[in-house]
Amino acid sequence: MNLETRDAIYNQAKEWVLKAGDTIRDKIHDRLEINTKSNPNDLVTTMDQNTENFFVTNIKKTYPDHFIISEEGYGDQLETLNGTVWIIDPIDGTMNFVHQKRNFAISVGIYHDGVGEIGFIYDVMADVLYSAKHNEGAFKNNEPLPRLTNKKSLLESIVGLNHFWLCENRFVDEQVMQDFVKTIRGTRTYGSAALEFAYVAEGIMDGYLTMSLSPWDIAAGVVIVNEVGGVTTTIYGDQVNMLEKNSILTCNPAIKSDIVDDYMLKGKK
Ligand code: IPD
Ligand code: CA
Ligand code: CA
Ligand code: CA
Repeated sequence: MNLETRDAIYNQAKEWVLKAGDTIRDKIHDRLEINTKSNPNDLVTTMDQNTENFFVTNIKKTYPDHFIISEEGYGDQLETLNGTVWIIDPIDGTMNFVHQKRNFAISVGIYHDGVGEIGFIYDVMADVLYSAKHNEGAFKNNEPLPRLTNKKSLLESIVGLNHFWLCENRFVDEQVMQDFVKTIRGTRTYGSAALEFAYVAEGIMDGYLTMSLSPWDIAAGVVIVNEVGGVTTTIYGDQVNMLEKNSILTCNPAIKSDIVDDYMLKGKK
């Protein structure tokens, strides 16, 4: 993608992300209409839908040749990542949005011919914007994020993961996962995949391991983590397919092979 074009899209996308965040903050105490999707804990609100609609309407008007992949149904059904594709999660962490009114994010990744060019993760209530452009580094608000240090051992690592890893699951033997959590320094669960990617990029968590995420949960995070030298693969170390669901590892490169080879592949079901 031509750099001038990319800068213009970046600036426009940033303006929309901040504006969408402003609207959510303004309405944070309004009465919510909450519905459920695949199960009683899979929540969606009119705020998720209206925020996605805001992005889709603006993108279609301003960039009629761009495509959109998004969670709440306003986007396109795509079979390739050819051209410019916006991958949007209007509210990542809807359960937090509903129950806590914080700890949720707007996530926007912009890909061109399959390459992640731009990423935004906006922690709306904290008013913290993580952003990146491919090959130009990552930022937290306007401060550059340092590259991740290569000196990191698993024993001193904090890894984001949720309790489902210790329950019976389809992916990795539970005993192996118990060994894993006993080996590392600590675990954290924030309930927003996008924020967990941002925390890995910021170096306040060393990895994040999660089952079955959709493209909109990870598209921006992959770009931002990449810009600080982090890596993102499937939990078994394979390349991520941005058109499908993937179980994901994103981490400091120093601990990747330890996690993949000694735990994920060893316990693979
Ligand atoms: C969810 C959050 C959550 C993750 C789920 C996602 P949503 O996204 O990122 O942390 O564990 O798998 O679906 O539905 O709140 O946008
Ligand atoms: Ca959802
Ligand atoms: Ca999400
Ligand atoms: Ca969402």
